[in-house]
Amino acid sequence: MTGNALDGDAAGGMERHTYDVVVVGAGGAGLRAAIAAHDAGAKVAVVCKSLLGKAHTVMAEGGIAAAMGNRWPEDNWEVHFRDTMRGGKMLNNWRMAQLHAQEAPERVMELEDWGALFDRTDDGLISQRDFGGHKYARLAHVGDRTGLEMIRTLQQRTVELGIDVFMECTVTDLFKDGDAIAGCFAYWRESGRFIVFDAPTVILATGGIGKSFKVTSNSWEYTGDGHALAMRAGASLINMEFIQFHPTGMVWPPSVKGLLVTESVRGDGGILKNSEGKRFMFDYIPDFFKAETADTVEEADAWYEDKKNNRRPPELLPRDEVARAINSEIKAGRGTPHGGIYLDIASRRTPEFIKKRLPSMYHQFKELADVDITSEPMEIGPTCHYVMGGVEVNADTQESSVTGLYAVGECSGGMHGSNRLGGNSLGDLLVFGKRAGDAATAYANGLGANRPKVSDADVAAAQASALAPFEVEGGENPYSIQTDLQQSMNDLVGIIRDGSELEQSLVAIEGFKERAKTMKVEGHRQYNPGWHLAIDLRNMLIVSESIAKAALARQESRGGHTRNDYPKTDPVWGTKNLVVTLNAAGTGVDLAEKPLPVMPEELTKYFDAAAKPEEGKN
Ligand code: FUM
Repeated sequence: MTGNALDGDAAGGMERHTYDVVVVGAGGAGLRAAIAAHDAGAKVAVVCKSLLGKAHTVMAEGGIAAAMGNRWPEDNWEVHFRDTMRGGKMLNNWRMAQLHAQEAPERVMELEDWGALFDRTDDGLISQRDFGGHKYARLAHVGDRTGLEMIRTLQQRTVELGIDVFMECTVTDLFKDGDAIAGCFAYWRESGRFIVFDAPTVILATGGIGKSFKVTSNSWEYTGDGHALAMRAGASLINMEFIQFHPTGMVWPPSVKGLLVTESVRGDGGILKNSEGKRFMFDYIPDFFKAETADTVEEADAWYEDKKNNRRPPELLPRDEVARAINSEIKAGRGTPHGGIYLDIASRRTPEFIKKRLPSMYHQFKELADVDITSEPMEIGPTCHYVMGGVEVNADTQESSVTGLYAVGECSGGMHGSNRLGGNSLGDLLVFGKRAGDAATAYANGLGANRPKVSDADVAAAQASALAPFEVEGGENPYSIQTDLQQSMNDLVGIIRDGSELEQSLVAIEGFKERAKTMKVEGHRQYNPGWHLAIDLRNMLIVSESIAKAALARQESRGGHTRNDYPKTDPVWGTKNLVVTLNAAGTGVDLAEKPLPVMPEELTKYFDAAAKPEEGKN
């Protein structure tokens, strides 16, 4: 493993390395892609701005959705496919949803072969738990630490295979030769020294964009780097208006506001109550899900105890529905003292059950909020968790419109449509990580000696761009711009949107862009967090503009995009995606409509006409 030693060619103080495949990001998607590329014979590097395995993957706590049929033999890929499409309100790329549902079980079994220790059923099979929007209990899990176990397993395998890892190393630019990727430019966060990677393929696996919002489950790394790198290289993004606000983040104390409270609490029996003690979710069952959702407390409880009736409790509606309901209760003045809603598992499960199934939640609340969840309810509220939108890719290979540029996991778009079902991200990053690693290697091998070349002029330009914030006289600190951006996105592009607020947000973003032109960093290149943020902020601004522009254009409500002024789901909008690209001057975002790929007949049969989302309210 390469640590952060300054090896390589030191000419001009710049290292240079050659690989077949460079993977940017070391979460689940990046590591699975790197393993696949290595296994296919490529020379691979993983480059990550944080530490190996410190990734948002660990925030997918509850499990990996895979139709293994261990609890419900009736489950199969067709039902999982259908649930995923319905959860995404039919805007998903059908082919990605199909591949995901078909291949997730094999990817889970493979993880087990590599040493992941899953919880078991009484029969000794991998245990599967309930999550919102999934007809059957299908989340393979390890207590409430599934993402962590997955990362541990992939990380260990990456190290065992001897894959080179460049930690605390940020990629700032992609290089092209003509229309094809030729490599990328990066800097060591510790020393500030630059690195050039010569490589005909780059796989972006940088995760999400949550840090553009004030209240988020994402940590500091999630500044939309892959999204922005792809746009600057000429690729397009889709579905950027769709942001997932996970219904349950901590609301108190302020230092941990937004921290994830896993959906497993509800999957394992937890219920939501307002300040009047009312189990309010029964008031928010949309027509679209009426046939499948229990409409009395008795019926919902019967499902939790004996699942044969199969009418699910309303707490297990898809996340967009639950988050909106919680938001409405809080807005109506029925929130908790700290501005949340109560999530109660204490009155429904024994302390032993809670500590066994939800050990992290038990410790998280005890340590951070002094709340014992085995005897008291939690206070929770929505938190920005995931972006459904990302780089537009080929469903089978994950290649973008730029030759040699691939995107996987959260920074790719299409798989989840307008709303992701919980548990589908871990399956997504395994299935498509492997596919991207295979495809990138096949492409790199096919090039033979005809590899694209990085030009000296492009290297010089990337260096100048990275150093630009040091050149400014008397400009503004990047932290103040970031804080204002986060507040503005939260207030104006949040869970419930409105045309006039979205317009205000775009005006505000133009203002932040102006301020960013003269942002200044103090000091020198050695470990300089202000400089790092100045570089990240450019990405956050492009991504935020993409989100706000797409959100303003989509005049309907669907999944993770709710408009006050267009509260209905509109069938016309159900036929198209919004695509964003960087404008010709590189100063802003262009928007276009694009028809959805047409689902073949052998798959449309899974959706009877009466169940189509266009016919119900959002
Ligand atoms: O609630 C959770 O455990 C998160 C899972 C996910 O986002 O897939």
